[in-house]
Amino acid sequence: MIQGRSESSCKTTQICIQLSPRIYPQTDEQCKRTFPHNHTAAHPRHAAADCYIKVTAMPSPNLHLRVVDPADFGAAAAALVAEALRSKPDAVLGLPTGNTPVPVYEHLVAQQRQGAVNFSRARVAMLDEYLGAGDRPISFFHWLREHFLGPAGIAADRVLRMPSQPEGIAAACAAYEAQLAAWGGCDLQLLGLGLTGHIGFNEPGSPPDSHTRVVPLSPVTREANEEYWPGEEVPAFGVTTGIATLLQARRLVLLVNGERKAEILHRTLEGPIGPEVPASFLRHGQDVWIVADRPAASHLDAGVEQLGSQAAR
Ligand code: PGA
Repeated sequence: MIQGRSESSCKTTQICIQLSPRIYPQTDEQCKRTFPHNHTAAHPRHAAADCYIKVTAMPSPNLHLRVVDPADFGAAAAALVAEALRSKPDAVLGLPTGNTPVPVYEHLVAQQRQGAVNFSRARVAMLDEYLGAGDRPISFFHWLREHFLGPAGIAADRVLRMPSQPEGIAAACAAYEAQLAAWGGCDLQLLGLGLTGHIGFNEPGSPPDSHTRVVPLSPVTREANEEYWPGEEVPAFGVTTGIATLLQARRLVLLVNGERKAEILHRTLEGPIGPEVPASFLRHGQDVWIVADRPAASHLDAGVEQLGSQAAR
């Protein structure tokens, strides 16, 4: 039976994990009436599509999984950001770097150009950084400025940078936490999912009570980040927002795309909760949304295949 949130939108399939899945096909008009925000802001291609909502009883009413076509990935996640800004124009957004959020940032920048979203008062807290990266082009700050902060017109005084200077780093991490708290905490935290199950640079072994700190990077993560450091050795340490800090965010959005993330997403959502897969701690968050494309969701036990064939109709 329907329980908890039944929000959904066109061409977007939402599963609230799990038990007795039911699928509710809707016409485009029904979808528009039921979900006016998502419908108009997030899905420019909605007009041609029917809407499918899959709502299931949830053992965990704080957890929502939205499975989308790869082409709709950026729009689906951007809709959650736009929603946060509509309800709070000066929202604090925790933002990641990496390949995963690129289509999300592109979509948001395009939406701002069309007047559908407005970042003029938004504040941004960086999720993580390499230790020692400074202002070099390979720093995450540089990446975020190029891919989002610059195009979205978010000025430096509205950006909380993750410290990276090795000297005095512990005090700088404490100052980062203090500033985030002074801003009232994070309203919406976007996260990528690492192949190790990391969120930010919280690698396996990260405890749930961790705060912003320096962490050693795993060999898998260092290898995955080689593309950011052409011709250079990937730094051995990162600086990251901690798990406890992340869980204080009023809404968490985990972004996962591509088949290579399918197994770790399965372990994140359907395996044991614990430090072996730090992202599994997200299941303790207040309001957690997972936006996954269909390949990334392909190892879930939650019946996505059945859903996929319906949504693709
Ligand atoms: P990716 O990284 O988006 O480049 O896959 C995700 C992460 O490691 O958090």
